[in-house]
Amino acid sequence: VWSAVPAGPPDPILGVSEAFKADKDPRKINLGVGAYRDEHGKPYVLTSVKKAEELVASSDPDKEYLPITGHAGFTKNAAKLAYGANSIPLTQGAVAVTQSISGTGALRIGGAFLARHYPNAKTIYLPTPSWGNHTPIFRDSGLEVRGYRYFNKETVGLDFEGLKADLLAAPEQSIVLLHACAHNPTGIDPTHEQWQEISNIVKEKNLFPFFDMAYQGFATGSISNDAFAVRHFVAEGHQVALAQSFAKNMGLYGERVGAFSLTTADPEEKARVDSQLKIVIRPMYSNPPLHGARIANAILSNEALYGEWETEVKSMADRIISMREKLYNMLTHDLKTPGEWGHIKSQIGMFSFTGLTPAHTQALAEKAHVYMTRDGRISMAGLNSGNIEHFATSVDSAVKG
Ligand code: LMR
Repeated sequence: VWSAVPAGPPDPILGVSEAFKADKDPRKINLGVGAYRDEHGKPYVLTSVKKAEELVASSDPDKEYLPITGHAGFTKNAAKLAYGANSIPLTQGAVAVTQSISGTGALRIGGAFLARHYPNAKTIYLPTPSWGNHTPIFRDSGLEVRGYRYFNKETVGLDFEGLKADLLAAPEQSIVLLHACAHNPTGIDPTHEQWQEISNIVKEKNLFPFFDMAYQGFATGSISNDAFAVRHFVAEGHQVALAQSFAKNMGLYGERVGAFSLTTADPEEKARVDSQLKIVIRPMYSNPPLHGARIANAILSNEALYGEWETEVKSMADRIISMREKLYNMLTHDLKTPGEWGHIKSQIGMFSFTGLTPAHTQALAEKAHVYMTRDGRISMAGLNSGNIEHFATSVDSAVKG
């Protein structure tokens, strides 16, 4: 039956983990997938998460189905975290929100909802480059995917002029995907002033902003600072779509905890949107998993745990920043590796877009057992004081050829 099914390529990000697993060399390093590792290279379960789990267990909860849109306490608190407690649509009861299978699920619900109900052209503009999964998610949701300029190779920074020109040239009412903070893969975010300009263009061209916020807290270590773009757009009167993930900031990767929301005109419109979100979700997976949402909600609804969590997010962000400093110093000062490496320090969030070429990344995997995505993106969280030297010297050899 399946003789005509062609073999597909490995996933550009998760395929790197498979190659890493198959490598038996003890020096191997995985800088592919964006998953936080502690100073010893081990997965990190946050203390606040462990305490939340104990709290949940002590209430001896049942295992009943959640409603289609998930855990009501969690979704309410997730929306508050993103939009801010004083956000106008939130206080007016005009935010339609549903739990999702982490960020990917949120984007997929959003894509499917827009494909079905967005009254205008079903075209979504993604930054070039964007997270590798964005294109398949939106294409499979039934949207047409196009790109807008984002990365300037020469400056290894934001191509702000290109970005503005492309958004201004996009047909009115197109959908535009914006990374709320810690842009993946480049680690380059617009400044607050640039976000204000982007908001003005989105308004002028009547574009529909769809925010992907997978790293709230990871960019600057501050939950509210990282929500600047979303909150600014909402304060400016935009109606937005928002995908949230709690994989990175709570370390709940495999628990698949996320939320999708749409700000609407009023509670009556919200109720209609809610009803259609349910109709999108029910045939996909009926209702979302319980456990992770309970953990996240225990943190978000308990002042002491919330405080502890905020400190832990900041310490994860700070460890990543210290690795940036260290790597920059090794390449620039110790090894005198050819090239300009300042971007390693200036980029923010989980990733650095190193500028290493596909040939470099292949050589690093084959000769040094160092794994990263082909585009030269590295997950900074995979570096620690035990492996950074091997990484830096391997990059140095690869660059010197
Ligand atoms: C990444 O970009 O590495 C993460 O968002 C994980 C994933 O699922 O790709």
